[in-house]
Amino acid sequence: MVMTSSPRPPHVGGRPGPTGGTIALGGEPARGYLLDNARAEAGERFVWLAELFDGVTRGHFDRLGVRAGSRCWEVGAGGRSIPEALAAAVGPTGHVLATDIDPSWLEAGDGYEVRRHDVAADPPPEPGTFDLVHARLVLVHVPDRARALANMAAALRPGGWLLVEDADTALQPLACLDDSGPAQRRANRLRDAVRELLTRRGADLRYGRTLPRALREAGLVDVAAAGSFPVGGPACDRLEAATIRHVRGELLTAGLADDAEIDAHLAAIHAGELDLTLAPLISAWGRRPAEHPSALG
Ligand SMILES: C[S@@+](CC[C@H](N)C(=O)[O-])C[C@H]1O[C@@H](n2cnc3c(N)ncnc32)[C@H](O)[C@@H]1O
Repeated sequence: MVMTSSPRPPHVGGRPGPTGGTIALGGEPARGYLLDNARAEAGERFVWLAELFDGVTRGHFDRLGVRAGSRCWEVGAGGRSIPEALAAAVGPTGHVLATDIDPSWLEAGDGYEVRRHDVAADPPPEPGTFDLVHARLVLVHVPDRARALANMAAALRPGGWLLVEDADTALQPLACLDDSGPAQRRANRLRDAVRELLTRRGADLRYGRTLPRALREAGLVDVAAAGSFPVGGPACDRLEAATIRHVRGELLTAGLADDAEIDAHLAAIHAGELDLTLAPLISAWGRRPAEHPSALG
């Protein structure tokens, strides 16, 4: 775990990134997080993920009692919107720690602390102290997600809440629910291709549905969950365009799509004719037992 004050990348669209590819130097298959934060498209994705899901996430924060003075750990924060929302909620008497394997898009000094931290490989920061630990759309990408969950649970104070939100792409795999023409069918084929890339990197596309059980197995109590997903609209379109541009090189290298298909898909998105949707976001929460803190080891 390393303290960081790394500068943010240039603003969205300000920096061309590498083209990517499934075969890294030396012929080894590429590993690690597919939609890495080094590219400008990652910053675009954070904007649209915030637009689509921050309302849901903030509703859970309110319900779980985040308030002035709370101590919160935002895991795999990505962009700034959730750390900023938590910092506003906890105020100067609270504490917000935002971590990520690549915290380049976070701004230290905005009312929250920033650290570079791998939730699976590094020990939990400040164990046994947080009122709320939250991760959204992170664990699905982490191959050792059981270890990551155990680290997050160990960071909770007795009685503190863990909120984990992850997509279940296998539950609803379509990009276009209304499969009405060739553009919609192409969108669905390309969504399958992106899911294939994610699977090759160790993502578990059925993880969302397992969250309630995973939280109970991590020793948490009062576990419950809910699901939601948007069905069409400009934020879905822009998220899809940024995602496709992000992984274009990998799709081509893997032979999962060709240039003509990708260009036609981007044009159809731009024309606003697809009514693109997403996989359900499963939000699950559970509390560290107040009277038996040793249950978490
Ligand atoms: C899909 S983005 C989600 C970002 C943000 N939580 C949101 O919902 O908008 C996944 C984030 O998890 C981070 N990440 C991936 N693997 C991680 C790991 N092992 N430890 C910490 N962060 C990780 C990525 O760098 C990225 O910022």
